[in-house]
Amino acid sequence: MSKNNYKNIDTKCVHAGIGEYQFRPVVPPIYQTSTFGFESAAEGAELFEGKKKGYIYTRMFNPTIEAMENSIAELEGGHKALGCASGMAAVNTVFTSTLKTGEHVVCSSAVYGPTTTILKTIMANFGIESTFVDSTRTKNVADAMKKNTKLVFIESPSNPTMVISDLAEIAKIAHAGNAKMAVDNTFMSPILQQPLSLGVDIVMHSMTKFLNGHADVVGGVIIVKDEETYTHFRKILNQLGGVIDPFNAFLVHRGLKTLAIRMQKHCENAMKIAAYLEKHPAVEWIMYPGLKSHPQYELAKKQQNGPGGMITFELKGGLEAGRILMDSVKLCGLAVSLGGVETLIEHPASMTHFSMGPDGRKAANISEGLVRLSIGIENADDIIEDLDQALQKI
Ligand SMILES: Cc1ncc(COP(=O)(O)O)c(C=O)c1O
Repeated sequence: MSKNNYKNIDTKCVHAGIGEYQFRPVVPPIYQTSTFGFESAAEGAELFEGKKKGYIYTRMFNPTIEAMENSIAELEGGHKALGCASGMAAVNTVFTSTLKTGEHVVCSSAVYGPTTTILKTIMANFGIESTFVDSTRTKNVADAMKKNTKLVFIESPSNPTMVISDLAEIAKIAHAGNAKMAVDNTFMSPILQQPLSLGVDIVMHSMTKFLNGHADVVGGVIIVKDEETYTHFRKILNQLGGVIDPFNAFLVHRGLKTLAIRMQKHCENAMKIAAYLEKHPAVEWIMYPGLKSHPQYELAKKQQNGPGGMITFELKGGLEAGRILMDSVKLCGLAVSLGGVETLIEHPASMTHFSMGPDGRKAANISEGLVRLSIGIENADDIIEDLDQALQKI
């Protein structure tokens, strides 16, 4: 990969991953091709044997995808990155590359729902055992470690509960037990948190969110620290086939150029909105790492470079209050997903988790008035004005 040695991450955002191209385009061209021609049978053989550097087939390698991967690897301070078809393809590749039948994984109980589901269903079917713990208490991770634990998987801050785990301390526990530690860094991006620098071995993202930042791509990425791990992961990803395509990789690389300034604005806006919501009489509680009321406020200050753009809060009026809020907002868009330039609002009880019913939601730990906000880069006053007029209707 080409490293440009720029010191500061905001400069890296603009220049990382840009290689040498024949006509000197300032952005890497889109190689929208499934396959690459060989000059001769001998060249084909050399490429396949790895004796010559070049491209063979886009599921294996593609220059547009590689440019995006190099950029993210550099931003995360890693060795190399692997572009995946979605965040879930990245999660799945982390599991299939680090675990074998008869092995065990310790996973935070506060991870994205489908990550839990993969472990409880698909991985369990392959004889891989999982233990879920409240990882905000580091001791719980230590207590859950077994002789056959090969992976500790943490998401911090978590979706949607916004709890924070001590990544450096948990990495020490994982390593003491000869296990690898992986972190889902989706909510932070490398601008706000660099888990590899805290001792973590593997980082992954849903690039669908902040990395791309424009709500027009589904993608994922894994960043690793050394060539041996990279080669092992690459073989598995290429064989299972969950790779990103060149056009989506191009769009993500384009989004990365503004990542530093977007994250700054997400944080500034979210801080103002969280402060507003914290004082609002319709709000029961709020979880935002920038507020002193957040249970891991001090830890967030230590391991993050900013509180991020995600806010979770509970409405006093439960399901009905949530429904009124959803139907009253105008600027905030009603949609799942997050991390884009536009503010999105989601109320699981009346939207994504409505069909579960109150008992099902209780069992899944989703309270009736829980609202998740993904704060965009609009003017914060406009977002507050919209929330204010909608909260008044409750
Ligand atoms: C924290 C986190 N990890 C992983 C994923 C899965 O990503 P994708 O939807 O790109 O597969 C999501 C999606 O919301 C997420 O929020």
